[in-house]
This record gives sequence, structure tokens and C-alpha cells, in this order.
Amino acid sequence: MAKKHQLDSASHSRRPIYMDHHATTHVDRRVLEAMLPYFTEIIGNAASIDHEYGAEANRAVEKARQQIAALINAQPDEIIFTSGATESDNLAILGTAEQHADRGNHIITCVTEHKAVLDSCQYLEQKGYRVTYLPVDQYGLIDPDDVRRAITPQSILISVMAANNEIGTLAPLADIGRIAREHEVLFHTDATQAAAYIPLNVEVLDIDLLSLSAHKMYGPKGIGALYVRKRRPRVRVSAQMRGGGHERGMRSGTLNVPGIVGLGKAAEIAAKEMKAEAKRVGELRDLLWHRLQENLEGVQLNGHPTQRLPNNLSVAIPSVESRSLLVQVKHDVALSTGSACTTAIVEPSHVILALGYGEERAHSSVRFGLGKENTQRDIEFVVECLKASVQRLKWLVAT
Ligand SMILES: Cc1ncc(COP(=O)(O)O)c(C=O)c1O
Repeated sequence: MAKKHQLDSASHSRRPIYMDHHATTHVDRRVLEAMLPYFTEIIGNAASIDHEYGAEANRAVEKARQQIAALINAQPDEIIFTSGATESDNLAILGTAEQHADRGNHIITCVTEHKAVLDSCQYLEQKGYRVTYLPVDQYGLIDPDDVRRAITPQSILISVMAANNEIGTLAPLADIGRIAREHEVLFHTDATQAAAYIPLNVEVLDIDLLSLSAHKMYGPKGIGALYVRKRRPRVRVSAQMRGGGHERGMRSGTLNVPGIVGLGKAAEIAAKEMKAEAKRVGELRDLLWHRLQENLEGVQLNGHPTQRLPNNLSVAIPSVESRSLLVQVKHDVALSTGSACTTAIVEPSHVILALGYGEERAHSSVRFGLGKENTQRDIEFVVECLKASVQRLKWLVAT
């Protein structure tokens, strides 16, 4: 089966099937085409608008702001461009802490957040802020009542991710947003993984700050955005990058116009195609889960069975060391054990550990991130590869 697939697809590509879309995605051709003129023809600095070069670059940036705002039901002037979600998370958390230092020093977040959020919070702890790291249940779900109970008069920010990048669990954003609003605490969500798959409406969900990244939604790497609410309430974050006062003074630096055009186009496509693609990829993911259950004895699901990203599947394969498995299959399929940003460090995933299962499960977990180019044929092929490799690994361990 494995061979057949490779031969059939040889004329097209001999590369492994890519199923690591939580780490990054390819750039959609339509996005690339929209970006290309901004490298060689429309070359102006969007802040240098006394001539046509700058003015046309500026118009492209403003169009992208509209496209991104439309995806989350924000206003264009509420979009701040950054270098990606890491920077957006840092700006949201450090910027709010600094801006509101006279109001309070308490931040509420969750143990399963991305390192961009956790490290920012830990940095603030060193500076004298207090951070509450809320637990999750065995599905990775945060309890909104825990959020309510954690709030004190000193609380200034709640930061809870929209969808987890390892196990795909979706947070109860509407409940948390309501609680945050009732207590007049700002609400930030890292929507990096959710933005292309889950409708996010910052008005309905009472979100004040929202992080996005282009390369997780078929746009280019190195460009992202932070939504900063401007009305009811007017939110401001202290700049973490100082300079020419770009982006309403919240993020200085010459704008990456081609990247911004790419992020805008990616957001426009995501808004248009989200419903159909979420359904398509969700069906593939369900098929993958069924096939894995049929072929891998004792395989267990990490994360919530239904409240999860449609393109995510995270499983534990008992008695199999997932790193060894990924090495075995790497010429056939590109998978991950967890978040790419921490794979340089071989330590058990903090997300799987937070589910309460212990290190063994963390070391036997594999993450599938499905995406636009994956097909039913890929699923069948990948399951065959995994089945053969798991048998081989078990045999090696037994002999
Ligand atoms: C949930 C989440 N937040 C933040 C990031 C960082 O994004 P970027 O690569 O754009 O800095 C990632 C990337 O893995 C992510 O999955």
C-alpha cells in the first residue's frame, strides 16, 4: 500500500504526506499571487505617503486591515500588525500589564497555553506580577467557574487560547468573555489555531485582544496581527517595540507590506471557505480516528471528543515511544509529537501532562494536523504506514 501510493504520486511529488498543519501551512497560490507585486512593483513604505509609491502601499495595508477585521467582526482600525502570534501574545500580555500597572497586578491564564503566553506570564511574575494558572479537565477544557473564582480586585487580564495547538480542544470563549466583561477585566485570546476553522466574533464573544498568525492559515511566515478593541471599552497596550510610532503607537517598525497583503488575502479566503473546509477536513479527521481505532490496539484520544478543532487529532499509542515512531514513518508522513516550538527540547508535553495522565502518555502521543491538501487517500496511506511501524517497533522492543 505504502509503495503504491508513492509510485502513483511519483510524477507529482515524492515527498512525505504533510500532516503537521498546526506547525505551519503552505502559502495558498491565491495568497502568493496577491503578494507578488508588492515585492517588485508596489515597493513603497506604507508610512511614506507623500508620493504614489507610499500611498499605494498604504492602500494595500488598509485593505488587509479590512479583510482581517471582517474575519473576526472587528473594525479595521482595531488591527495592529506584528511579526506573528508570538509577538501578538507578548504585546497583548506585557502591553496590558504595563498599561494597567496602576490598576492591578494580577493575570489569569491556563496551564495548557502556548509558550508565547506562558513565558510572557512567567516573565511578568519575575517583575512582581501575580499569575493564576488555571487547570483543565481530562479533555483539556477550562471551567469558566474557575475563571470567575480566580478574579480579584487586582485582576487586569484573562488570557485563554481559543483552540489548543496540541490537542485541539476549544475553550468556552463566550462564557469567559461574559465573566471578564462583568468583572471589567480585559480578555485576550490566542486564536492562532482557531482563526481559519472556527467563526470568531469579537463582539459576541466579548474579546478585547486577539492574536493571529498568517502562516497557520495558508499565509506567509513572519506576519501576524493583534486585534485591540477600540470601542466599549477602548483598550490600549503599551508598546513593546519603540520607534517611529507606527500602528497607533503600539508597534513601531516599517510595515511588512507583502506579508500584510498575504495575511489579508489569507483571512479573506478563510472567511469565505471556512465552513466548507471545516466540514471536509472534519470528515477526514473522523475517518482517520476510526481507521486508527481499527488498526492500532488500545489507541486513545487526547482532547475533547467533540469540542475540538476539525483538523486536529491527537492520540496516544500505548507502549509506543512517539518520537521513535515519527522517525520510523518520516519518509512517508510528516507528523509531530506536539507543539513544534518546543520540539527542540525533549521533555513531555505540558499540555498532555495537564490532562492528568502522566509522562508515559505524553511520551506516546502523536499529533495529526490535517490541512487543505490532505485527501481520503492520504488517510488510508498514513494509517497503513503507522500500523506497520507500530508493529515493527513493538517487535523490536519485544526482541
Ligand atoms: C496557539 C499558538 N500560539 C502562538 C504560536 C506562535 O505563532 P508564530 O509562529 O506566528 O509566532 C503558535 C505556533 O505554533 C500557536 O500554535
